[in-house]
Amino acid sequence: LRAPNRDDTVLTSARELLDQTVEQASRAGQIIRATREFLSRGDVRRVQARLADLVRAVIDLMRGETVQNQVSIVTQIDPNLPPLLVDPIQVEQVVLNLVRNSIEAMSREPGSLRQITVAATASAEEPGFAEITVQDTGPGLPADIAERLFTPFTTTKESGMGLGLSISRSIVEAHGGHITIASNDAGRGVTIRFTLPFDSEQ
Ligand SMILES: Nc1ncnc2c1ncn2[C@@H]1O[C@H](COP(=O)(O)OP(=O)(O)OP(=O)(O)O)[C@@H](O)[C@H]1O
Ligand SMILES: [Mg+2]
Repeated sequence: LRAPNRDDTVLTSARELLDQTVEQASRAGQIIRATREFLSRGDVRRVQARLADLVRAVIDLMRGETVQNQVSIVTQIDPNLPPLLVDPIQVEQVVLNLVRNSIEAMSREPGSLRQITVAATASAEEPGFAEITVQDTGPGLPADIAERLFTPFTTTKESGMGLGLSISRSIVEAHGGHITIASNDAGRGVTIRFTLPFDSEQ
């Protein structure tokens, strides 16, 4: 046995980087395939689901990323919110895309407060729909990006594909909901708002 030397360390981190890249590329491919399939079907596999459970699943799934980036996630979900009638995997994908964007935006800000708030209530404007917001404390959006935020391939990231938000819009609209920028403040971050249907049988 010998102590690991610098070359070993470099090799290990190169190997890890390569593994990560391969994993990310394959994950990106999977998401695009799943989304195409889902869009071409034109329908959604809808089941009754509690929003709080879907958000919890995403937070658990992203634990590594949030810890690594020193981000805390706060939830403010109305405990009396009726169950949704949605495709749970697709809804989790939307929440994951939004949370990941917020993590990425805040990680470019040195030393600042890094907090994401996921809140939900019944929508006042869209009866029968829940209104969900994902808010961060990041730098906000540049004006030119804000205009085409939900258009495919809009990205400011070197390794970004600019698909997260356009996929999210497809998913939300396939459920009959809407997704918009609720606020965009330099210094106070971005808030994205979207709506999803309640189970009307409830
Ligand atoms: N919370 C946010 N704060 C600041 N900028 C954001 C935020 N969310 C999105 N953006 C900007 O909008 C762009 C588009 O986001 P989108 O999720 O569609 O693509 P991406 O994150 O660049 O790539 P991908 O999601 O495919 O990995 C981002 O590149 C970024 O510039
Ligand atoms: Mg993204």
